[in-house]
Amino acid sequence: MALRLITNIHSIFGVTDENLPLMKGKNMKEVGVLNNAYLLFDKKIIDYGPMDQCPQNVPDTIDAEGGSILPSWCDSHTHIVYAGSRENEYVMRLQGKTYEEIAAAGGGILNSASKMTNADENTLYNDASERLNEVIKTGTGAIEIKSGYGLSFESEVKMLRVIKKLKENSDAEIKATFLGAHAIPAMYKQNRSAYITLITDTMIPYIAENQLADYCDVFCDEGFFSVKETDTILEIAAKFGLKAKIHANELANSGGVQIGIKHNAISVDHLERIGDDEIYALLQSDTIPTALPNASFFLQIPYSPCRKMIDAGLGVALASDFNPGSSPSGNIPLLLSIACNHMKLLPEEAFNAATINGAHAMEVADHLGSITKGKSASFILTIPIPNLSYMVYRFGTNHINKVWLKGNLQQNW
Ligand code: NIG
Ligand code: FE
Repeated sequence: MALRLITNIHSIFGVTDENLPLMKGKNMKEVGVLNNAYLLFDKKIIDYGPMDQCPQNVPDTIDAEGGSILPSWCDSHTHIVYAGSRENEYVMRLQGKTYEEIAAAGGGILNSASKMTNADENTLYNDASERLNEVIKTGTGAIEIKSGYGLSFESEVKMLRVIKKLKENSDAEIKATFLGAHAIPAMYKQNRSAYITLITDTMIPYIAENQLADYCDVFCDEGFFSVKETDTILEIAAKFGLKAKIHANELANSGGVQIGIKHNAISVDHLERIGDDEIYALLQSDTIPTALPNASFFLQIPYSPCRKMIDAGLGVALASDFNPGSSPSGNIPLLLSIACNHMKLLPEEAFNAATINGAHAMEVADHLGSITKGKSASFILTIPIPNLSYMVYRFGTNHINKVWLKGNLQQNW
């Protein structure tokens, strides 16, 4: 791939010569900045430095015209493969029904699951690629995508095949997560254990053997899967080489955090209802607490106590949870503003949570999540912004001018 140079960059944010570990506690405020800079890359980042040391005569030179460079976002939790949409449930919630009431009446995840059963694989793929392009436009360069609207062997595998095809055809880095344990399908309502057995004895072995997933997720929460059921599923998943990344403590203090930690989960996600015990347990572990502020915003439920977690010394990741029910948006710049406003994060903390820490929460930090020599050339060029705080403060404005992923300029918009 040809060498390219970007000149006259106002600031490169998230620049660092070292491979950063998870940013924790006070370190979450630290963002490397290089002002008045150039950036040299092919499919990887080759070099950067101040403009007075800029290489000359690179034929493929782009003038940033005072825009800034940021690493592309690493969105470690989404459900962007789905059929149809659920704005009717949104209106029901505006009229006073709760997410749980809608779910208990067969709406929610089961509503999406019945739409998935009838969905044709090509249509699913085309719709999901459109969503993927939409989030690439807002700067996402790595994304984890879950199954979980299939809830039958055929439909779960269909979703995972769609994710595999997205992986093969996108410059975005994609991780696939099997979420068969997202809800108990209606036909198993009286026989939960038969569905759990279908997951452990049929789905997981097939999915692992066919390399259709990197991780296994369970919605461990009140009204969904118990701690014991989660334990059973994650134990089998581990036997088949699928690491855990779980939904925990969204609707109740469910014990999900502790069971995730017991299984060495890469991350435990949601965490709207956690207390000191959960924070203490996370501090003793390598599991990454991941907050999904869009879900709190959209469902109008409490926000995860990220300020408290960071002050306690934890390293938090932020992800969009893009899905048709609780977060129909994958727009990370908007999410950063929501996180700062409602969780009292500083812009630098939110930035790290959605770049380097998100990269750790999907195990891609060795090649994504920062502007570092040797990492993938996956970054955003903004329109002129004076600093990082400005972008978060001017919520709702699109500051993104261009996006390169793995060295390729994304031109699908
Ligand atoms: O992360 N909480 C569980 N799963 C998704 C929502 C799924 C849905 O409502 O479709 C979430 O919020
Ligand atoms: Fe989710």
